[in-house]
Amino acid sequence: MFYRPIVDPKPLPHDPFKAIIAPRPIGWISTLNKDGTANLAPYSFFNGVQDEPPMIMFAEGGPKMGIDEPKDSVRNIQETGEFCVNIVSDALKDAMNVTSAHLPYGTDEFVEAGLDKGIAKVIKTPYVAASPVVMECKLHQIVPLLGNGQMVIGEVVGIHIQDAHIKDGILDVTSYAPLARLGYRDYTSVMDVFSLNRPGQS
Ligand SMILES: Cc1cc2nc3c(=O)[nH]c(=O)nc-3n(C[C@H](O)[C@H](O)[C@H](O)COP(=O)(O)O)c2cc1C
Repeated sequence: MFYRPIVDPKPLPHDPFKAIIAPRPIGWISTLNKDGTANLAPYSFFNGVQDEPPMIMFAEGGPKMGIDEPKDSVRNIQETGEFCVNIVSDALKDAMNVTSAHLPYGTDEFVEAGLDKGIAKVIKTPYVAASPVVMECKLHQIVPLLGNGQMVIGEVVGIHIQDAHIKDGILDVTSYAPLARLGYRDYTSVMDVFSLNRPGQS
């Protein structure tokens, strides 16, 4: 089959776009609002975009989400210029899901999900203490997308890794099984890993 998104009538009962770009890592974004209240929400339009210096992006959805105002995470980042990316282990999936609820501005989703806060070292925004890996970030740029979407690009200025997940100097992702989003309501957790040498590498 072939179709042109937006232009052609719905080709399938459910939009397959997110199932095509799968698996997507989940950036569990913690922020502070101007009054100092914490906010926490998952974003699967999330990825690293370069490693020297390390930079990441996440994006909030456009008109499909039916919301004209920026989401709380983006609004807070506009106001404070900083955020943390918390990595979601398989064990944290239910807590992550609780924090995806659309709650009134100023609601602390750490409290809603029963999560303890860790104190960041470089920035002021708290992080999810139970997350195996956390990146403290400073805002680099917010890029408007087509529709009402916005992409937040951040510089990673601090990285926390729980010692239990470092084995022989390597970050062992299988020890915490990072959660990733597929299409529809589906998820996967990374438990199965194999290595490949690039051509010319031994
Ligand atoms: C696994 C998962 C991934 C999500 N990814 C996105 C995303 O990439 N972009 C987006 O706009 N909303 C995404 N959402 C929905 C937001 O988490 C939800 O709208 C949330 O209420 C936003 O919170 P905030 O207003 O506190 O930022 C996702 C939800 C889940 C459960």
